[in-house]
Amino acid sequence: MTGDIVNRCASPALECSSMSIYRCRVNGKAVQIDSWDPQQPLLYALRGIGLTGAKIGCGLGQCGTCTVLIEDEPVRACVVPIESVARKAILTVEGLGTPQKPDAIQSAFIAEQAAQCGYCTTGMMLAAKALLRRTPRPTIDQIKDALAGNLCRCGVHGRIIRAVLRASGQVRGARGAKPLG
Ligand code: FES
Ligand code: FES
Repeated sequence: MTGDIVNRCASPALECSSMSIYRCRVNGKAVQIDSWDPQQPLLYALRGIGLTGAKIGCGLGQCGTCTVLIEDEPVRACVVPIESVARKAILTVEGLGTPQKPDAIQSAFIAEQAAQCGYCTTGMMLAAKALLRRTPRPTIDQIKDALAGNLCRCGVHGRIIRAVLRASGQVRGARGAKPLG
């Protein structure tokens, strides 16, 4: 399909005669993914079309580093089968914003320096994005609840919470400023 992003079977050792085509929208673009396995994790399909922002962590749906949004809901892409995303809208960190025009959550993470190694960061930002869509001014407890399934081994949780507060307009001024009101 002209203009579409296409991911073909990347395993020549395997028989691809039963390959299926899955069409969805990724970051606003029509995408066609050809896969020999309907259970192929979405995470690998995304990486197959060059979207490597969602990270591989546990591969078991337990750490949140692979978080993307499907129809605005955060999911663990490592345990979502490709067959389940046909005709759905997927948002990855590559679709959040650009260096020239970052999303509010990206700007807030930068302002609060809310990353150390950065491995958890894209998943954290997408989980936070979903929270802010449904709860524009979340409390600290609501932020903790929304991000509870996203693990950070570097222990940057305090800055991440403040970044989400900042993205929601509840922190202004210099890095480390106290939440408003
Ligand atoms: S890699 Fe998907 S939840 Fe850990
Ligand atoms: S910043 Fe390293 S895991 Fe979170």
